[in-house]
Amino acid sequence: MARILVTSALPYINGVKHLGNLAGSMLPADVFSRAMRMMGHDVLSLCATDEHGTPAELAAAEAGVDVRRYCNEQHERQKRAGDQFGLDWDWFGRSSSPQNHALTQHFAEVLEERGLIEERSSTQIYSNADGRFLPDRYVVGTCPNCGHERARGDQCENCGKLLDPTDLIDPKSAISGSTDLEPRETSHLYLLQSQMQDAIRDWVDRQSWPSLATSIAKKWLDEGLKDRAITRDLEWGVPVLKDGKPRPGFENKVFYVWFDAPIEYFACAIEAEREGVLDSWERWWRVDGGADDVTYVEFMGKDNVAFHTVSFPATVLGSGEAWKTVDRLKAFNWVTWYGGKFSTSEKRGIFMDQALELLPADYWRWYLTANAPESSDAAFTLEGFQAAANADLANNLGNFVNRITRFAASRFDGHVPEGGEAGPLEAQLEKDLQARLDALRGHYDAMEFRKAAAETRAIWALGNNYLQEAAPWTAFKTDPQAAAVSVRTGLNLARLFGALSWPVIPFAADAILEAFGEGGEAPRWPASAAQALDTLKPGSKFEAPDVLFAKIEDEQVEGWRTKFGGADS
Ligand code: MF3
Ligand code: ZN
Repeated sequence: MARILVTSALPYINGVKHLGNLAGSMLPADVFSRAMRMMGHDVLSLCATDEHGTPAELAAAEAGVDVRRYCNEQHERQKRAGDQFGLDWDWFGRSSSPQNHALTQHFAEVLEERGLIEERSSTQIYSNADGRFLPDRYVVGTCPNCGHERARGDQCENCGKLLDPTDLIDPKSAISGSTDLEPRETSHLYLLQSQMQDAIRDWVDRQSWPSLATSIAKKWLDEGLKDRAITRDLEWGVPVLKDGKPRPGFENKVFYVWFDAPIEYFACAIEAEREGVLDSWERWWRVDGGADDVTYVEFMGKDNVAFHTVSFPATVLGSGEAWKTVDRLKAFNWVTWYGGKFSTSEKRGIFMDQALELLPADYWRWYLTANAPESSDAAFTLEGFQAAANADLANNLGNFVNRITRFAASRFDGHVPEGGEAGPLEAQLEKDLQARLDALRGHYDAMEFRKAAAETRAIWALGNNYLQEAAPWTAFKTDPQAAAVSVRTGLNLARLFGALSWPVIPFAADAILEAFGEGGEAPRWPASAAQALDTLKPGSKFEAPDVLFAKIEDEQVEGWRTKFGGADS
């Protein structure tokens, strides 16, 4: 049994996330955590809302509410959407928590003591119309890199380039639209990343990340790490202190959101301990507190990789303290909406809460896992979604479970039949199943989600082929003993399918397991195919579950296309 700590990139507080965000970090983190739990590992799964910075302030302003209240409400909404999607976090925290405030201030203090933070005067954009500085996303303008006209001051959404507000061409205020802007000098704290270049490169060289992550980290290192401002002229965030009091000159400044947000990975566990969810957060996060045997796995979209492989490690390694750093990192490309961008403002794409109004979570979880954007971007299309759900969930899995349990319920009175000896058909099934179970386990260990879904699908198909050949429905009249063997085998397969489906489609999995008197907690990974096919005691009772997956009809897809924008949106 291993101890595995799983985090997924913390979703920004600015509204419930769309299916693309879900597919690129929170969902695979959950699928992986569940698979590892089934294998008997001790798993801690953490996530939180990323609540500071300009994304939060701008969204609150747009909603016309105070930012604190906005964050309270949106945190609850995101938590609810996550729960309804079956995201089984041990704790879903908040980067605005007192624990994160304290820990962020602690890191700043230690880094300053170690000579890695310096106060510097820098030029920022000041808006005369708004009477304030405009950091990050408070400035919009033309991207100097690609010419995109609505680039934001922190990053161009179009080409992905990280920017400084002063880089933008024709800048204007995102608050008022005013172009009456001027450069002004003001002080900020700088993290001296340039001094950590060698230490970080050594550390990166010792990691065995996938090539996507390593190449992004190396690119940053090769360009040379720049000292970076870790404070901003904002009200909402972690206050900047000196000796426990507001730091002179920093009364109207807070730490930069990308400085405090990853620290919430740690603070989230401190929140969990305070709530009684964890015995000791140090046992997971501090190498000197018992976490030396923990494997820490991070999930994120590719735009987050540099922050997790270089910037955040600079904070952590720079502290000289014994924090856990990432052991395994899984990064994803984008899920697109018919090849284009998901966009809230342009009404393109589906958000988590809307998705659940259309269909239960398992449908979305299945499609987004089976088509995870692992080696390249993956297009979400309603047509592809319909086809996959109908073929895999309704026809393959659903049909198998419903058919065998109904037949067995009516012919064997709701009890698992005894029957005779297993024959060559069962022997072949066991052999094929064993090979596929080994492969499936390997895909989960390797965090290969498309492959894991494909293998799960192939195991369901194995069951259908077996029943097709064994045909207990006809054998029942001619050879009742043989029919009983195949029904018993079929019922064991149905139960196994419930267990194996649990990481990806936990709600249907629970419904299947409940039909056999299990469910509610992580099912055990089967010890072997032989054991899996011989789990149900002859004579034990079961129920035939209701239809697990209704087919998605063309008319439904038609309606969604109109509502959410389809191929030609
Ligand atoms: N909120 C960021 C995003 O959505 C991710 C923050 S991850 C963390 O891109 F490490 F900073 F927490
Ligand atoms: Zn650009």
